[in-house]
Amino acid sequence: MDRQVTNLVITGFSGTGKSLVAKDVVRRLNWDFLDTDDEIVRQTGKPIAEIFRHDGESAFRELEREAIRKASQQKQLVIAVGGGAIVDPQNYELLSETGLIVCLEAKPEIIYERLFREAACGPETEVRPLLTVDNPLERIRQLKAKRQSYYAKADWTIHTDCLSVGEVAEEIIRAWKLLNRIDTCRLSNTSDKDIACFVETAIQSYPVFVGYGLLDKLGEKTKKVALSGTATVISDENVFSLYGNKVKGILKSAGFSVNAFVVPPGEETKSMDYAVKIYDFLVGHRTERDDIIIALGGGMAGDLAGFVAATFLRGLPWVQVPTSLIAMVDASIGGKVGVNHPKGKNLIGAFYQPNLVLADPQTLATLPRRELTSGWAEVIKHGLILDEEFVQFLESNVDGLTKLEPELITRAIAHSASIKAQVVSQDEKEREGKRTILNYGHTIAHGLEAATQYNHFLHGEAVAIGMMGAARLSQRLGLLPVATVEHQRTILQEFGLPIGFSDLDLTEVTRAMELDKKTKEKAIRWVLLQDIGKTVIRGDVSQQDVLAVLRELARS
Ligand SMILES: NC(=O)c1ccc[n+]([C@@H]2O[C@H](COP(=O)([O-])OP(=O)(O)OC[C@H]3O[C@@H](n4cnc5c(N)ncnc54)[C@H](O)[C@@H]3O)[C@@H](O)[C@H]2O)c1
Ligand SMILES: [Zn+2]
Repeated sequence: MDRQVTNLVITGFSGTGKSLVAKDVVRRLNWDFLDTDDEIVRQTGKPIAEIFRHDGESAFRELEREAIRKASQQKQLVIAVGGGAIVDPQNYELLSETGLIVCLEAKPEIIYERLFREAACGPETEVRPLLTVDNPLERIRQLKAKRQSYYAKADWTIHTDCLSVGEVAEEIIRAWKLLNRIDTCRLSNTSDKDIACFVETAIQSYPVFVGYGLLDKLGEKTKKVALSGTATVISDENVFSLYGNKVKGILKSAGFSVNAFVVPPGEETKSMDYAVKIYDFLVGHRTERDDIIIALGGGMAGDLAGFVAATFLRGLPWVQVPTSLIAMVDASIGGKVGVNHPKGKNLIGAFYQPNLVLADPQTLATLPRRELTSGWAEVIKHGLILDEEFVQFLESNVDGLTKLEPELITRAIAHSASIKAQVVSQDEKEREGKRTILNYGHTIAHGLEAATQYNHFLHGEAVAIGMMGAARLSQRLGLLPVATVEHQRTILQEFGLPIGFSDLDLTEVTRAMELDKKTKEKAIRWVLLQDIGKTVIRGDVSQQDVLAVLRELARS
């Protein structure tokens, strides 16, 4: 499309199901709904038929135009408009400027049947006049034929004859997604070499930009995805003191008004208490639905800021600017946002995708060394589960990568982020099990983290040990040769990651692993390796094998 559409306009002849379908789409997208006819009734206090009778059609069309003008200035709105409305060129222009126009079609016979049924059991509606003429079916045919050339101008047409309301709604969302993809396709066709990948979600796709020094272009890229308004930067003290003023300056010079809310660093900040503090700040600054949130920092700031973006005013547009290695390749991609509860990590949250992700590997220069090393575990994990060639790239460039050589580190992050994007795009809401493979190493990791009250291991350190556990289990089950287990160990060690632990109560670890299961189902679903780049999910791993592997890890 050559325009930026933010609304969905549903139109079509009477009896094609506009209102019902529009309400179903609203429910699925969690957008707002406006029916221009209802709006006119609300404003004038008169039923449509009465306006027609007393004031004439032109008075009605005038009111309709005004309602359409107001509606088309909004965003994330599903607008149901009467079939006669888009015949007016001015209305059509207004609606198509900001809305994707979907026309619902049906055969005259079906329309007649539906209207007849509706009239027989429903309240008085404006469609009845169509039925009071001598030959209603013929009248429907004529009127429809007269309007057909206007309906044909819609962006998308759906023949509703054999479809349920839900199926039509689904088709509309598919159209929205498809046409938006064409939009993002155009974005990539502008040969923006900074785009590493796109994350495809149910209703749209968004770009992940990765580039050395790319922070300078944050304003430009944000504008490129059609975001505007006031930007509220949410960051922790460590990151803000290093990059806060720079980011504010960049956004301001791109034309954004900028506010900032800075929180203390550390996992304790990822809490409802801080989310509420940020809500208070946004309310105080009169933040509106078109304004944007910029999450600047590691995964903690990203999860917290994203949670606020998902919930404030039922959702603000937001941008992820990850500054830690874990955030660049993992936390910023996939739309999982949330805060911790005193009883458990990430217990409160949502799936809420950002409008874009922008990662600048240059910012890693200030990341504490231990945090950087921990991040490599997730990078390596992406290779181990899906991409042998990437593992080879990593092991051939350990020195350059760990020294953050610009070209190498940018390549590694772009590729690792693309692997995560590919997985989450196939299973956005973790319903189909495809996202499960990202949990490689995480069953034991979560056990280790919980058994040590989250204050002993960094996440990536626990994941590295967990991956060694999973590889050893794979070997015990006859899935993986010992040489591959050793191969994995070498890579992890070369990147400075731990491969075992000491001084831990193993029963604590197994208990924590049991508690970590998110469902009541009995067996833990282990992500195991069959080869480098090839996973298998197994629910039949015995407790003895797990315990034996934990003992081996304790000796490593
Ligand atoms: N949403 C997801 O899908 C997802 C995935 C993985 C992890 N996470 C979450 O992410 C968090 C862990 O992420 P993290 O490791 O980035 O933690 P973090 O955000 O706490 O950052 C780690 C430390 O590094 C500092 N830091 C970050 N970038 C810096 C930079 N460029 N220079 C100097 N200091 C910098 C931070 O201030 C902090 O002290 C956890 O809360 C975890 O639950 C979420
Ligand atoms: Zn992880």
